[in-house]
Amino acid sequence: MFLTAELITKKRDGKKLSEEEIRFLVSEYTGGSIPDYQMAAFLMAAFIRGLDRRETTFLTRAMLESGRVFDLSSLPAPKIDKHSTGGVGDKVSLVLAPWVASCGVAVPMISGRGLGHTGGTLDKLSAIPGFRTDFSIEQFTEILRGNNFFMAGQTVEIAPADKKIYALRDVTGTVPSIPLITASILSKKLAGGAEAILFDVKVGRGAFMRTPKEAKELAFWLCAVARQFKVKAEAVLTRMDEPLGRFVGNILEVKEALEFLSGRFEADLYHVTEYLAVRMLGLAGIEEKEARRLLSARLLDGSARQHFRELVRLQGGFVGAVENPGLFARAEYQIPVRAPQAGWVWSLDAREVGLLAIELGAGRKTVQDKIDYTVGFEFLKKTGAQVEKEETVAFVHSNSTVTGREVAMELGQLYDIRREKKKAPGLIIKS
Ligand code: URA
Repeated sequence: MFLTAELITKKRDGKKLSEEEIRFLVSEYTGGSIPDYQMAAFLMAAFIRGLDRRETTFLTRAMLESGRVFDLSSLPAPKIDKHSTGGVGDKVSLVLAPWVASCGVAVPMISGRGLGHTGGTLDKLSAIPGFRTDFSIEQFTEILRGNNFFMAGQTVEIAPADKKIYALRDVTGTVPSIPLITASILSKKLAGGAEAILFDVKVGRGAFMRTPKEAKELAFWLCAVARQFKVKAEAVLTRMDEPLGRFVGNILEVKEALEFLSGRFEADLYHVTEYLAVRMLGLAGIEEKEARRLLSARLLDGSARQHFRELVRLQGGFVGAVENPGLFARAEYQIPVRAPQAGWVWSLDAREVGLLAIELGAGRKTVQDKIDYTVGFEFLKKTGAQVEKEETVAFVHSNSTVTGREVAMELGQLYDIRREKKKAPGLIIKS
């Protein structure tokens, strides 16, 4: 037994905590014996004083072991997961997981909801009527056995300590700490039972890590701590300055993912997704040339799309809409956004786009908010495109003409258009 106040004092004074001390804090807080105010004080002390890698490993383990862990050892396929640190228009997981699964690699994917200005895979999946992400570990394992992948949320069984601690961090200014982020992400990801994890660390205006230096540091911590759990880990840094792909918004992004799986895609989304897919297959021991050949074959012969269809069926979703995306609900109004002047698009700030999407109802302002799955944006022009004055550069999908028009005005102002030519930047920063 320890005294909670003593442990807070120890961290406040910059001392290191032992595994037993950290385990005590996590288990007593999760069990309800340590109140929020003491845990909040500890988190702030950890935020300011930092945790070293050993302490972060202890914290990860304590949070991981607060719940259950998938045992996938009886499945013969290699088991590889991917984690993105979050962006705008980032529907990569919706395409990547079925695509990699169709190549014979099992993908036990545990995803999150939207955070701040970023969208979350779970919210996009919830836009499919009936789709469930809260099965038991046994049920998810059966889904994985049948279709080579599942897409789960953080259920009551998966890292419940993280769920409680994250909610507290969210309201106490203690989210942006690399050790706390590392432990939080890994406690959920390691619960999935993957042998290897690929981290897509987003960097730029629309990412939580604004500079490559910060992103590299987070990538380093995620890989270093994951390896303490005997999990192979690699990280890729990808640019998130403007929205990825053509659409932002939940149903719109699911439809874009389905288009991709049918062989029609935007170049930027294809580039990032294929790169990550090759790296995931690489973690499964498939060399690059063969990985590219396999991925191309599985996309062309429809097996990647078939895996997505089967996922929707197994997880209770409306398969009819996957077969005929016209059956998805659609926002009532599509309001054009016009270019304020002629020239080249220099930038389209992803963070501001994400915040406008929330304004429209595509994301939450508070945890209680209900999402309008139909609303969002379609971008016809992005960085590097040439535009004429008054040309339609985007559409706002809205269920209110008033809000839709206001948001369309603001979106138009986010387009930085200049007379000088601009090339679209590469998206893979460092691998
Ligand atoms: N995502 C998480 O799951 N946890 C964090 O702390 C930050 C991002």
